[in-house]
Amino acid sequence: MLLVSLLFVAVLFVNAAAIALDGLYALAQRRLPQHADHFTFTLTGGNSELDSFVISDTKGKPGRITVECTTVSACARGLYTYLTQYGGVDIWWTGSRLDNLPVRLPSVGTAMTGNTIVPYRYHFNTVTFDYTAAFWSFEDWSLELDWLALRGVNLPLAWVGYEYILIETFREAGLTDADIASFLSGPAFQAWNRFGNIQGSWGGELPMAWVNDQFALQKQILKRMSELGMTPVLPSFTGFVPRAMSLLYPNASIVNGSQWSGFPSSLTNVSFLEPFDPLFTTLQKSFISKQQAAYGADLSHIYTLDQYNENDPFSGDLSYLANITAGTFASMRAADPEATWLMQGWLFFSSSAFWTNERIEAYLGGVPGNDSMIILDLFSEAAPQWNRTSSYFGKQWVWCQLHDFGGNMGLEGNLDELTAGPLAALNYPGSTMKGMGLTMEGQEGNEIVYDILLDQAWSPMPLDITAYVESWVSRRYPVQRLPPVAHEAWQILSTTVYNNHDPNTQATIKSIFELAPALTGLTNRTGHHPTAVPYDTSTTVLAALKLLVQAKNEDPALAGIPEFAYDVVDVARQLLSNRFIDYYDALLVAYNASDATAQSITAAGQPLLAMLSDLDALLYTNEHFLLSTWIADARSWAHGSSSYAAYLEFNARNQITLWGPDGEINDYASKAWAGLIGSYYKSRWETFINYLAGTKVNGTVYNATAVSQTMLAIGEQWGNRTWGQGPNERWGTYGDTWQMVEQVLQKWA
Ligand SMILES: *[C@@H]1O[C@H](CO)[C@@H](O)[C@H](O)[C@H]1NC(C)=O
Ligand SMILES: *[C@@H]1O[C@H](CO)[C@@H](O)[C@H](O)[C@H]1NC(C)=O
Ligand SMILES: *[C@@H]1O[C@H](CO)[C@@H](O)[C@H](O)[C@H]1NC(C)=O
Ligand SMILES: *[C@@H]1O[C@H](CO)[C@@H](O)[C@H](O)[C@H]1NC(C)=O
Ligand SMILES: *[C@@H]1O[C@H](CO)[C@@H](O)[C@H](O)[C@H]1NC(C)=O
Ligand SMILES: *[C@@H]1O[C@H](CO)[C@@H](O)[C@H](O)[C@H]1NC(C)=O
Ligand SMILES: *[C@@H]1O[C@H](CO)[C@@H](O)[C@H](O)[C@H]1NC(C)=O
Ligand SMILES: *[C@@H]1O[C@H](CO)[C@@H](O)[C@H](O)[C@H]1NC(C)=O
Ligand SMILES: *[C@@H]1O[C@H](CO)[C@@H](O)[C@H](O)[C@H]1NC(C)=O
Ligand SMILES: *[C@@H]1O[C@H](CO)[C@@H](O)[C@H](O)[C@H]1NC(C)=O
Ligand SMILES: *[C@@H]1O[C@H](CO)[C@@H](O)[C@H](O)[C@H]1NC(C)=O
Repeated sequence: MLLVSLLFVAVLFVNAAAIALDGLYALAQRRLPQHADHFTFTLTGGNSELDSFVISDTKGKPGRITVECTTVSACARGLYTYLTQYGGVDIWWTGSRLDNLPVRLPSVGTAMTGNTIVPYRYHFNTVTFDYTAAFWSFEDWSLELDWLALRGVNLPLAWVGYEYILIETFREAGLTDADIASFLSGPAFQAWNRFGNIQGSWGGELPMAWVNDQFALQKQILKRMSELGMTPVLPSFTGFVPRAMSLLYPNASIVNGSQWSGFPSSLTNVSFLEPFDPLFTTLQKSFISKQQAAYGADLSHIYTLDQYNENDPFSGDLSYLANITAGTFASMRAADPEATWLMQGWLFFSSSAFWTNERIEAYLGGVPGNDSMIILDLFSEAAPQWNRTSSYFGKQWVWCQLHDFGGNMGLEGNLDELTAGPLAALNYPGSTMKGMGLTMEGQEGNEIVYDILLDQAWSPMPLDITAYVESWVSRRYPVQRLPPVAHEAWQILSTTVYNNHDPNTQATIKSIFELAPALTGLTNRTGHHPTAVPYDTSTTVLAALKLLVQAKNEDPALAGIPEFAYDVVDVARQLLSNRFIDYYDALLVAYNASDATAQSITAAGQPLLAMLSDLDALLYTNEHFLLSTWIADARSWAHGSSSYAAYLEFNARNQITLWGPDGEINDYASKAWAGLIGSYYKSRWETFINYLAGTKVNGTVYNATAVSQTMLAIGEQWGNRTWGQGPNERWGTYGDTWQMVEQVLQKWA
């Protein structure tokens, strides 16, 4: 009998293991169809919380590879290690090149072992779902999830479709559809509604078609995440409720949250049901049970829940704060006895005046046990909080790179910190660090700084940056013999632009041409939207661009490598961004001159406009730098309805420009995109230069308020337009990259 049971268990395990690996075989089929059946994956189990894998040549089968692993995620990482380190291919945000493997797979020789140094490899910021993924199709998600799985990410955030479950929960509580509709925010702004920063919409109510489509998309995403060995971090009920909830439940403890970013109180001061109220637990159970019914009860027990992100608590009393978390956590456990609470730690940095150590300790202390929470130390590379909070007073936490704000696109990075920093934190006495991850607001460019952190999660020693960059460049530009000047270009970039130790400029550098023109306040900004350029442009960006162009001249095959073209355009974009500052400074000097005339100012403004035209034309040559893609993706959800398409387009446009009905956080999520520059930024600068010239014609004194109002009015008009109707509003790419880059070098070097 015992033997029979053992056999039965063994068979079950083999079956379960084989099924568990189906998703990985499917990935191989998707991305390497020529070689899919040359790989064998074997789950070995094991009880360490630290994943590991072994890659070896399949015995007796030359050209075949076996990956043994402790988990599906470890097998995915093992496959990736083989593909990158032996196969010389990779998968990028710009596309998968994994099918370029050599026909005959290179052998491994001595088996190679990989061990992670952290249990959790995490990905996404709540706001990435809007700044980057707001309008993604499942095809976009599929590339993203393969990128993540192969790099070993096992803990991705999964916010899509949240509103479907939330609406059902609110309906069950008795709210009307009108009450609920007045609470929900538009497709490009849902993250901040989920955070309780904003409520309601501008430009029209959220259509149910959107909610239903996103719910369907989430089912596909979660299935894929699970197949690829990832544990999705699922939404939960946060406590933010429609205003009408207080009317329906007059005795419930509902308070108004704080005002966010200058929004009018009709759109912010979101009502918050306090977690000690029994209604909170009722709604939590309702939400989580509906979610389990929709997606499966065993998919994940890790929940994302942020109540005070840029939103200060009703009271700072220690007992109040501990009570909030105690109530919240109790509600989660009442709904799911295995619940773990994950939260973004941004508040402890952004509202550090409120969040004293004492308050943080009280707040986290309200949750019993240390394994019951995971805190994302959100901005570890520049503003870590774990070190002032004694490792979050014992709770588990994740070392995260934030790096990008609002999907801004400037080149920047700190490779030294990304390699050494997490190890120092992990080895710090008493450290409760349990993971490493990426929490960029927008996923845009600078791919190397994200890659290196996820790779560092598999090395107990700091990666050798020189060797790392060399190998990364070789597989990013896979030509027969890569001209050494290409490596030289990256050697320059990686030791300057990507080796920024200045704490005041640790984030994507924002281009000043993307800001509303003004006489002051544009240049030399520091903080997390820096405009100060922390390196010398001529000896770095310009030098690298020339070397990349030289590499292409030496080996014209490079022109056909998509990532090479992307990088050349991106580096040329940065050159123009930085040079723009010099011409702007010259414009100010011309305006200030005692003998300034309308003509002298117009002449000084001319290069700014010419440069923006050239930049627009340059970016139009590459499919990854197009406003029209963002708009087309938004419109693609409209089911053929022109009014729905216009609504989606308004959302898409408003987020990257005014961000709010009246420019509440104007230009926060600005982009260097073809079409946006030509149709928007350039017209603002043209208006500004004409204004400056006009003051000399009629003797008007410069009026900063008037200028700023004019800029907002341009933004409002622009936001309501339909793409493709104005001059130079194209769908898709046009023009030749190499010709444009030559022109850039001739005119603006
Ligand atoms: C733009 O559209 C918004 C929302 O539909 C509307 O409130 C506003 O008046 C329009 N503005 C202009 C300048 O057309
Ligand atoms: C609210 O509380 C008051 C006073 O305790 C009570 O009279 C009333 O019935 C309660 N209302 C509801 C809807 O529970
Ligand atoms: C919250 O704000 C709304 C709208 O301004 C107001 O009517 C309500 O009284 C406020 N609630 C509390 C508890 O302050
Ligand atoms: C909104 O929050 C601000 C504080 O951030 C507060 O001064 C204001 O009274 C609040 N308004 C409402 C309607 O609750
Ligand atoms: C939280 O505060 C409420 C209301 O003051 C109280 O009823 C409840 O017992 C408190 N809960 C905890 C865990 O302290
Ligand atoms: C934590 O680390 C940051 C960055 O290295 C540093 O600026 C800060 O002073 C440290 N704080 C403490 C309390 O050690
Ligand atoms: C949680 O961690 C803290 C700090 O390391 C420790 O003092 C405490 O005993 C731990 N609590 C539990 C329940 O393990
Ligand atoms: C910006 O900073 C640089 C270097 O600190 C300085 O030379 C320049 O004058 C500053 N520009 C402005 C507009 O303040
Ligand atoms: C413009 O002139 C004013 C007054 O002379 C001076 O303070 C300011 O620095 C000048 N600005 C520029 C950009 O030259
Ligand atoms: C004078 O010049 C300013 C700045 O260009 C412009 O805004 C204003 O309309 C002009 N006034 C007249 C009467 O032309
Ligand atoms: C500046 O412009 C604003 C808005 O147009 C106007 O209200 C204000 O009176 C102007 N200031 C001066 C000094 O003209």
